[in-house]
Amino acid sequence: MSHSPAQPLSPHDVIIVGSGAAGLTAALALADRLKVLVLAKGSLTGGSTAWAQGGIAAVLDAGDTFEDHIRDTMVAGAGLNRIETVEFVVERAPHAIDRLIDLGVPFNTDGPNLHLTREGGHSHRRIVHVADATGWAVQSALVKAAEDHPNITLLSGRAAVDLITGRHEERYSGSGRVWGVYALNEATGKVEAHTARATILATGGAGRVYQYSTAPRGATGDGIAMAWRAGCRVGNMEMMQFHPTCLYNLSVKNFLITEAVRGEGGHLLNPKTGHRYMPDYDARAELAPRDIVARANDSEIKRDGLDYVHLDISHQPPEFVREHFPNIHEKLLGLGIDMTKEPIPVVPAQHYTCGGIVIDLNGRTDLPGLYAAGECTESGLHGANRLASNSLLECFVFGEAAAADILARWDEFAAPPPVRAWDESRVTDSDEEVVIQQNWTEIRRFMWNYVGIVRTTKRLERAKHRIELLMEEVDDYYGHFRVSTDLIELRNLLQCAQLIVRSALERKESRGLHFILDYPELLPEARDTVLMP
Ligand code: FAD
Ligand code: SIN
Repeated sequence: MSHSPAQPLSPHDVIIVGSGAAGLTAALALADRLKVLVLAKGSLTGGSTAWAQGGIAAVLDAGDTFEDHIRDTMVAGAGLNRIETVEFVVERAPHAIDRLIDLGVPFNTDGPNLHLTREGGHSHRRIVHVADATGWAVQSALVKAAEDHPNITLLSGRAAVDLITGRHEERYSGSGRVWGVYALNEATGKVEAHTARATILATGGAGRVYQYSTAPRGATGDGIAMAWRAGCRVGNMEMMQFHPTCLYNLSVKNFLITEAVRGEGGHLLNPKTGHRYMPDYDARAELAPRDIVARANDSEIKRDGLDYVHLDISHQPPEFVREHFPNIHEKLLGLGIDMTKEPIPVVPAQHYTCGGIVIDLNGRTDLPGLYAAGECTESGLHGANRLASNSLLECFVFGEAAAADILARWDEFAAPPPVRAWDESRVTDSDEEVVIQQNWTEIRRFMWNYVGIVRTTKRLERAKHRIELLMEEVDDYYGHFRVSTDLIELRNLLQCAQLIVRSALERKESRGLHFILDYPELLPEARDTVLMP
């Protein structure tokens, strides 16, 4: 990197990377007192938040209790959850819903109350929702409130490349203090330095590391990889959640069929025999936690050589189905499937990254000045398997917690020093874009085949070896060519693949989402897999 003239003083107090539920919640909680810059790769609505279907879990029903929600979360998480985090989040859920109502989110109602739907692993009806497109309603309300706030600047089309730390100061300090991010301006192709007193990573998950995923294209684990490279611990990366019911369709690859379809009575059937098989696997049948249902679907598909299994809700009245699932119903009709009359072909697909950057209850990471919230984190909430509809909730609670900690400690945050500009003097334009596409495809395919729903040590070792080879190639490429969003994402995907495989090899048991044939038993003590950079 070259020694450029000193950067102008930062016009923003806090930088937030990510404009989903976690990032915008934090921005809104900070903005009455501080100036906030929000950066987003692609569009402001490109994260998973906009795609969420089922809803948000909160104890609101007369017969429900915090204790029940806490217990359900711990049971789904196979005891790996941190109880203090689970209590912290569950107890703040009703407040989070109130805030969303204040922002204008039009949740479905049932008379004077909110309508609550049900999902796997929940012992009560507990999920507030906006029909089957909750995420879009939440994302739109958050973006509107952020756009209306004079202290929030929203910059889309900015792909963060790396964190700015003490290593990048004009007067090199080498400290781990974080001062912001270098981010690629996707319109100009230039990398800009954005500095501030505090930085929050809210970059979402790493689902696109798998060939089949319900997550959007940008879920490439950028924040997790950036934090790791800067010196943060990451935890439980082997706990990758697979959703049991992603639409099987040759042209539409990642359309989720919400768990609420099973919550409202949908059955899983073997298409060869018509047999409803979930009661054979678990007493909770279709409403068992997701890891159990996903493994059952995988097992039926593999045993009978099927392309998919059937999800059938056609026994419910057509009006009921159309009213509860208007968007899914319409989308499927466009593909020639009428869910009021026939079953839906579904397969399991990667859905959620339970592990991530290790944070405490204030959203603090290991590095001074750096916070993180949402799906990019390992807060202790999900343990070995996330309970359905607990993740948007985590975004709201930790977005607020990080903001509250920054506000409470504001006097301790120094102004950022001048930092060095991004150095492009030794790179050229790529003459081999094909390398990026080839490596993307290769990683996603071997991660699906070798590090999927059912694992073995041998297959994990194979994946580890391939990752090492690809890392050499990608590092070499990164060192010689100008960065593009595709290259940034490829480098991060590969880094996350390595963290997932390393973590999976460290866990010598089967727990929650990590099911490995060499170690089918549960160890007596639940321990996090924490990797140190
Ligand atoms: P996201 O909403 O994913 O946002 C990430 C943000 O970071 C985006 O703005 C993105 O552009 C930005 N970003 C990423 N990398 C960079 C970079 N390098 N530079 C700049 N910006 C970057 N959870 C529930 O609780 N209930 C549900 O019903 C539900 N349904 C779901 C349905 C689907 C299909 C999917 C995929 C997930 C669902 N989830 C659900 C999970 C939930 O949607 C996510 O966990 C949650 O929205 C994550 O929010 P987030 O703010 O952490 O990240
Ligand atoms: C769904 O609607 O099935 C997804 C819910 C979730 O991921 O929490």
